[in-house]
Amino acid sequence: MKLERIHLYVGFNALVAIGSLAASWFAFRLAPGPWEILALLVVGFLLEVASTTLRSGEGKGSIAFVSDLAAGLLFGGFWAGVVAALGMGSSQIWNRRPPIRLIFNVAQRTYSSVAAIAVYSALGGSQPLSYFLPGAAFDGGVFLWDVFCFAVGSLSFFIANSLAVSGALSIAQGVPLSSVWQRNTLWVLGYDLGASALSFFVAYAYLRFEGGTLQGRLFFFLILLPIVALRHIYAKLNTLQGLYDQLDSAHDKLELSLREQLEMMVKSIEARDPYTSGHSRRVAALSKAIAQDLGMSGDGLAEVESAALLHDVGKIHAEFAPLLQKEGRLTQDEWEIMKTHAAKSAELVGLFSRFRGNVQSSVRSHHERWDGKGYPDGMAGSDIPLGARIIMISDTIDAMTTDRPYRKALSFEKVVAELQKYRGSQFDPAIVDVTVNSVTVRRLVSDKEFLAEQTKARPSFAGRPRPALRSQSSFLEALRSGMGSGS
Ligand SMILES: [Fe+2]
Repeated sequence: MKLERIHLYVGFNALVAIGSLAASWFAFRLAPGPWEILALLVVGFLLEVASTTLRSGEGKGSIAFVSDLAAGLLFGGFWAGVVAALGMGSSQIWNRRPPIRLIFNVAQRTYSSVAAIAVYSALGGSQPLSYFLPGAAFDGGVFLWDVFCFAVGSLSFFIANSLAVSGALSIAQGVPLSSVWQRNTLWVLGYDLGASALSFFVAYAYLRFEGGTLQGRLFFFLILLPIVALRHIYAKLNTLQGLYDQLDSAHDKLELSLREQLEMMVKSIEARDPYTSGHSRRVAALSKAIAQDLGMSGDGLAEVESAALLHDVGKIHAEFAPLLQKEGRLTQDEWEIMKTHAAKSAELVGLFSRFRGNVQSSVRSHHERWDGKGYPDGMAGSDIPLGARIIMISDTIDAMTTDRPYRKALSFEKVVAELQKYRGSQFDPAIVDVTVNSVTVRRLVSDKEFLAEQTKARPSFAGRPRPALRSQSSFLEALRSGMGSGS
């Protein structure tokens, strides 16, 4: 059944090809000699034989169409079809393709080429390109219009060609046409349209140098060699794209495992101290809210959130375990040990290269006070990293608003009073002002469901900018994402 449908499809394509050739016989047509056709065929053949594998590994792509379209520009649509058919046919035989594929590929390439030239001349593109002839006056306006007509013609070529190929793949694999088309076409369309401009160059070289002499003919060939070289660049681009994709997914995996490790660290400290369960996540949510109200965004915001989440990871060291478990007050000695957790946390955070810098320094300084009486370094005022000043406040808010064995959670009003009391001594006064007026902070403190929701989301870890691996797959994709219609 499927085989039958494929045969029908190929038969239909062959009929369209023959029909298009017959129709183009009556359009503009010169009578090129065998040498001219042969020269274009050799170029097309070289390009075709070295065709690249398509992105998803189904079917092949090449820029052999450059010589087909050049033949059309020089001698008319009929000859575009003939060069396409002969070029594709010989390369299919060279590659020992089964007859059904040979017929299909010859057919689709033939009618696509004829269609491109038909569109070109329908729009008023000049034939022949007489302004390229030696001694002729060059008319920029006419040339530009021709380029435009040709661009539209090339686009028709690619649409006809890619729909035909996608149709065959869709029947063979039983998947919707649109998904095959998107997968295989969109990313090459930009390169292909650029490459099609080479047809103009081939036509120019022919008219300028192919004067019927042996010398002219050799020169014509020499000048076309770079196009064959270009194909190799094209193949390299294809390989590079694949490499980029692999690197990108490796990067994603690394990032995921980093997140998992950090989450595990945060959870294991909280497991030691039942009263601080969820503390780090809540401090992260509060810090993020305050930072946003301060007008922070992007990397800076993500850095504050990461630092807040990790501010106490140093407590994972064994010496803190008995202190965290202890009921009742700490002795002076124990308190001195406890105070080293800020530096220990910063040390641990600094093991991840992406956290060195703002995240690490904010973690180290999260117990510094505005008046310089904090620890570990006794910094004061705006010398204290901004992230640390924010964490200092959210750390205090969370301590006050969660139940402790010795007291119940305090209300937001009490918290505000406390923050105001130590505004300018313990806390940065400007951040206190923003915090007490923050709608989000108020909600986080008084609405437990909202808080749970905010702490459930995975924090986006900040760090060095992600390497520029997300290369644009194609000109079109770049255009789409540039226009912001992507996700
Ligand atoms: Fe701390």
